[in-house]
Amino acid sequence: QDKEEPWDDDEFQELVQTLPKEKNWYGTHLYFYQGFWCASRVFRAMICFQKHFQALDSDIFLTSIPKSGTTWLKALTFSIVNRNQFAREENPLLSSNPHQLVPVFEYDLYLNNPCPDLENSCPYQPRMFSTHLPYAFLPPSIKDSNSKIVYICRNPMDMFISLWFFTDKLRPDNVEPLSLDEAFEKFCQGMHDFGPFFDHVLGYWKASQENPNRILFLQYEDLKENINFHIKKLGKFLGFPFSEVEEEQGVVEEIARMCSFGNLKELDVNKNGMHTFGIAHNTLFRKAEVGNWCNYLTPSMVEYFKKLIQDKLDKSEVVF
Ligand code: A3P
Repeated sequence: QDKEEPWDDDEFQELVQTLPKEKNWYGTHLYFYQGFWCASRVFRAMICFQKHFQALDSDIFLTSIPKSGTTWLKALTFSIVNRNQFAREENPLLSSNPHQLVPVFEYDLYLNNPCPDLENSCPYQPRMFSTHLPYAFLPPSIKDSNSKIVYICRNPMDMFISLWFFTDKLRPDNVEPLSLDEAFEKFCQGMHDFGPFFDHVLGYWKASQENPNRILFLQYEDLKENINFHIKKLGKFLGFPFSEVEEEQGVVEEIARMCSFGNLKELDVNKNGMHTFGIAHNTLFRKAEVGNWCNYLTPSMVEYFKKLIQDKLDKSEVVF
């Protein structure tokens, strides 16, 4: 059993012992649970969240598989929804990392606490939370409520490269780095935090098709192409539409600027700050490019990826 797993009762012990287990990319483990690979470090928190969380109709949930643009989505949603709560020059993003303003259930809230103080963990109303859990794992109270869910995904080749760089930063010194070939092999088998990638994406995509008023499916590349359009779309979807006056005053453009990679990356809190989960904020900002994979993947990896994308997403309207 891993040292980092805070199991404290027989129920968890028994469950964990029955699950397939693999090494993950940075020295800890993954458990295969109900079709997904879950990081051992947050597995218990995930189960607690699933079991105990009670959603409110007014809640907003930001969801993604890691390295798909979660930080950006948090900054945007926070700024859109709370834009009338503070003066522009006092946006809390200037002094807090987006992950401090929108806590993650499995990392920040339920990690060591089956009953976290949810009311005081969100600085403003409505409550805003995030999770990397697949749609199938979301607590029934979220699925059955009238809350809003926004999902963001990204071309898997860029997401894969982003994950490879990021997990290397999480790797303790006594753990050997994972080569790109090894990471590629694991990724193609779906063995990465909250993988398989395609099942994660398709789970939310299908849910968004069935329930478009409650679940908004976004792609990183589309936001990159036209951020102003997507800020307005998010505002409308979440029930905080922009008025004509606001549009004339440039409120949309100002939010785009505030949440841009260039702006956030250079803020002191993001250059030097540290998240409670032990992640340096600067590791969340790397290149933010579409197509950065082309500097790293071999032609055979690209060919394999393209075939995988075609095979897995063929029956959906998701195009990367
Ligand atoms: P790269 O590693 O390709 O640069 P997540 O937030 O889900 O962890 O995703 C991280 C990816 O989003 C990283 O991609 C990171 O650089 C990029 N990113 C972070 N903040 C961003 C922003 N404000 N705008 C666009 N991309 C951003």
